[in-house]
Amino acid sequence: MNRFSKGFLLVLEGLDGAGKTTTSNLLTTKLRQKGFKVLQTKEPGDSCIGSTLRTLVNTTKENLEPLAEYLLFAADRAQHVQEIVRPALERGEIVISDRMADSSLAYQGYGRGLCSERIALVNAWALGSIRPNLTVYLKLTTEEALMRITKRNEQRTRFEEQNAFLERVKSGFDTLFATASSTRLSVDGTKPPQEIVSIIYHHILENSGR
Ligand code: TMP
Repeated sequence: MNRFSKGFLLVLEGLDGAGKTTTSNLLTTKLRQKGFKVLQTKEPGDSCIGSTLRTLVNTTKENLEPLAEYLLFAADRAQHVQEIVRPALERGEIVISDRMADSSLAYQGYGRGLCSERIALVNAWALGSIRPNLTVYLKLTTEEALMRITKRNEQRTRFEEQNAFLERVKSGFDTLFATASSTRLSVDGTKPPQEIVSIIYHHILENSGR
């Protein structure tokens, strides 16, 4: 049985350290055990330009203009959708993407102060006809997120260097996900990973009859 003849796009959003990777891994395992075909992917990183771009935006010491930064993410998004996401959806698979359009609204819109309406327009252009069936925001305080990053022994990227910036990004995500709907869900990122997975799993099954 495949309930996802048109595929299903799930996007995980939130600060680094929010548990997106763990959630993606556990949910993928669970869905595969239930017989679903799942493709795990991420932005930036999984398209042919993604990993180069990820290194560039995460580590450049240059004073990257916010608009240039955003357009790099948008270019990656356009490539990612055409190269990876659309073909998998057309094969009827469940695609789980670690980040997508809402990250740009939160980081470059709320964080860097770029115009959200313009970002939304370019995001829509980059996505073409593809829209997430469900976007889940794993909500965490900036303190908790930074603590987890430190615990993982990871270096802070350009996006985590300034607490004030991270606070703006966090409040951006909070605003974007203030109202829950069948396609947008905010989940407490401090819950145990299996509980988070169970919430998302049931939400997917409930909303798969499109
Ligand atoms: P990653 O560490 O999750 O791979 O992502 C790299 C960073 O890129 C992360 O800190 C968030 C940031 N980012 C943006 O600023 N805008 C975007 O549109 C995306 C997709 C990521």
